[in-house]
Amino acid sequence: MRHALHRQITCAGTLLLALAWPLGANASAQLALDQGCYSCHGANLRAEAPSFERLAQKLANYKGDAAAQKEFVDKYRAGEMFGHIDAHERLSSNSAKALVHWLAEGAH
Ligand code: HEC
Repeated sequence: MRHALHRQITCAGTLLLALAWPLGANASAQLALDQGCYSCHGANLRAEAPSFERLAQKLANYKGDAAAQKEFVDKYRAGEMFGHIDAHERLSSNSAKALVHWLAEGAH
């Protein structure tokens, strides 16, 4: 009985997550989508833009290291490091933080 109830709750939870997609666990993926990140880093790579997989691999160096992630966010938003890409510099510091953290954790 308990087991069945648990299954029902899990099921409802999955449904809720699907409905609340932009607010759920995948908020960062949605943010990346909203910010146009995929237009260069997505399936059709633009110029020398690395794929999201590649970005996640690189940023994995900062996994669990909030200070290093913050330093990266600052450099990234300043734009100098990465050839002044509008989409990079336009990000608010909170969005950049969320995206860098998400990438550092593997972009799941
Ligand atoms: C107009 C194309 C374009 C868009 C849009 C874009 N990027 Fe980039 N991005 C690039 C290019 C090109 C580079 C590599 C620049 C270099 O290596 O000098 C880069 C580099 C990066 C890097 C650094 C990778 C490294 O070498 O450490 C990160 C992180 C990144 N992008 C994340 C994002 C995120 C998150 C978004 C969405 C807000 C985004 N980018 C949107 C083109 C783009």
